[in-house]
Amino acid sequence: MRIDIMTLFPDTVGDVLSESILGRAQERGFITVRTHQIRDWTTNKQNQVDDYPYGGGRGAVMQADPLYRCWAHICEETGTRPHTIYMSPCGRVFDQGQARRLAADYENLILVCGHYEGIDQRFIDECVDEELSLGDFVLTGGEIAAMAVTDAVCRLLPGVLSDPECFEEESHWNGLLEYPQYSRPAVWHERPVPEVLTSGDHAKVARWRRKQSILRTMYRRPDLFARLRLPDKTKAEKKFIQELEEEDHEFKVRYAENLGR
Ligand SMILES: C[S@@+](CC[C@H](N)C(=O)[O-])C[C@H]1O[C@@H](n2cnc3c(N)ncnc32)[C@H](O)[C@@H]1O
Repeated sequence: MRIDIMTLFPDTVGDVLSESILGRAQERGFITVRTHQIRDWTTNKQNQVDDYPYGGGRGAVMQADPLYRCWAHICEETGTRPHTIYMSPCGRVFDQGQARRLAADYENLILVCGHYEGIDQRFIDECVDEELSLGDFVLTGGEIAAMAVTDAVCRLLPGVLSDPECFEEESHWNGLLEYPQYSRPAVWHERPVPEVLTSGDHAKVARWRRKQSILRTMYRRPDLFARLRLPDKTKAEKKFIQELEEEDHEFKVRYAENLGR
């Protein structure tokens, strides 16, 4: 996949995305990330990209033309018309499901980072396919959101992580939060690692992790838990759910509520 990011801060964005796992993935050719300075596509001497908002009010709005010229340059360079996303607090809230969709559906993406009061609606109407928000809050610019989307999408692509298991066991893959993780030493500040994790019994470890995952989701994210459909069709799954119900009364109540929906 190739991701082109349109921004007023291409060096900052490029530096962050060239580090660590994504940097190595770029070096190995699994992904390509390019940043573009929108200011380079102005036609005035001052390289001004913004102007006052029609209708009055405070702040400045990024003008449509430099954005369009930058966007058209990327289309020409890639020889395609990439799916174009404007990072915006008015967009659909980005989550793991959106990351999976973008990773599966597109070979080329353009991410547009706004600044000031945002960007001229006419550029959005002409060139943008969708708007994505990082959450229900307002950032000063779209760069952090674009970096978050790039990171979340790219780590799902073949070759970027060593194994699909790396993300398939993580939070939000199957509607659950991940279980707690521990590393050496076995005792730190008088806090021992849960005994089961040092038992060497893989089945027991797997069961403990699944239980922690379910209970953590239930207590921390009741909204996710309410949407969860735990499989209880096979004998082993039924037994597991039954044991959980016996071990945790709250689970029994909430699981029954979910089934009733
Ligand atoms: C200060 S914001 C503009 C906010 C805009 N006036 C509004 O009230 O909706 C400047 C830029 O930051 C980016 N931005 C701000 N909050 C964001 C969010 N939650 N998700 C994604 N991008 C965001 C957008 O690109 C936006 O054009």
